[in-house]
Amino acid sequence: QRHLSTSVPTKKVQKVTVFGAGLMGAGIAQVGAQNGLKVVLSDVTDKALENGLKIISKSLSRIAKKSSPDDIEGFTANVMKNIETTTDASKAVEDSDLVVEAIIESLKVKRDLFKFLDTKAKAECIFATNTSSLSVTEIAESCGAERQEKFAGLHFFNPVPAMKLVEIIKTSKTSQETYEALREVTVQMRKAPVTCNDTPGFIVNRLLVPYLLEAIRMVERGDATPGDVDTAMELGAGYPMGPFKLLDFVGLDTTSYISQGWRDKAASGQISKELVEPIPMLEKLVKEGKLGRKSGQGFYEYEKK
Ligand code: NAI
Repeated sequence: QRHLSTSVPTKKVQKVTVFGAGLMGAGIAQVGAQNGLKVVLSDVTDKALENGLKIISKSLSRIAKKSSPDDIEGFTANVMKNIETTTDASKAVEDSDLVVEAIIESLKVKRDLFKFLDTKAKAECIFATNTSSLSVTEIAESCGAERQEKFAGLHFFNPVPAMKLVEIIKTSKTSQETYEALREVTVQMRKAPVTCNDTPGFIVNRLLVPYLLEAIRMVERGDATPGDVDTAMELGAGYPMGPFKLLDFVGLDTTSYISQGWRDKAASGQISKELVEPIPMLEKLVKEGKLGRKSGQGFYEYEKK
């Protein structure tokens, strides 16, 4: 049966439900709707849904200004008609082929949501989490054994409409059929999929976060300034953005939060301890509310929006 279903020409995923209408969920809903998928966007309040729709229409008009400047409204309306919204989680998944969860980064809240959805969604519905720092396996274990075969990580990057990469995270239970359906839908969303096991940070953050932390340590020791480190990595290593510009973009609180989470994983031997030693300079900036671009100051100062 497995063989038969993978050779069926129709696309396995036609209807996607996205949970969480924040920064990431709005972006994921948008790229799905832009590429012919029917999308249901769900959040806990109407206000959050409105916020998500606002993020989407702003992004679409930015894209339309470049691609179809004469018909910005038509372009936007065409995508928007593929998106429904609801605060009713049960209704949101009733005929969905894929759930992509992009709600707050809390293991308990994510597990509660999936446990509930497991009883409401179709048996064939694939469940995916966009978590950056939690274990996909631990989230999946909130569901029954059959759903765990249909469970994976689907990790998008911010800003979703612009960033081409999606990491598909397999747990030891994820079936090949599930994995292939996720690859297919990722490509349909015009993203480039890569595959990784369920390990801390997956591919990108596992390499990027220790590098960012090492850059802060260099400045903390007084060995170079943030400006010189950025120039060095941009012009000497060909990176599009130096580590301090990137830290301010990602948010210093987010970086601190991820490294804190990894310290717990280091304790159980999943990652080496030295990579995530606490950095007083980072913690001090976070305490002072200097979180990067979003707060107007991080390693650099920004004009307040
Ligand atoms: P956000 O804070 O912008 O949005 C989260 C949304 O989830 C809010 O609208 C909130 O109302 C909603 N929500 C909370 N509990 C809910 C529930 N039980 N059901 C439905 N909606 C609920 O967060 P953001 O930045 O979009 O992150 C979402 C997820 O994506 C997190 O797991 C995060 O780790 C992951 N992620 C974030 C990236 C980033 O750069 N911000 C990058 C890649 C992944």
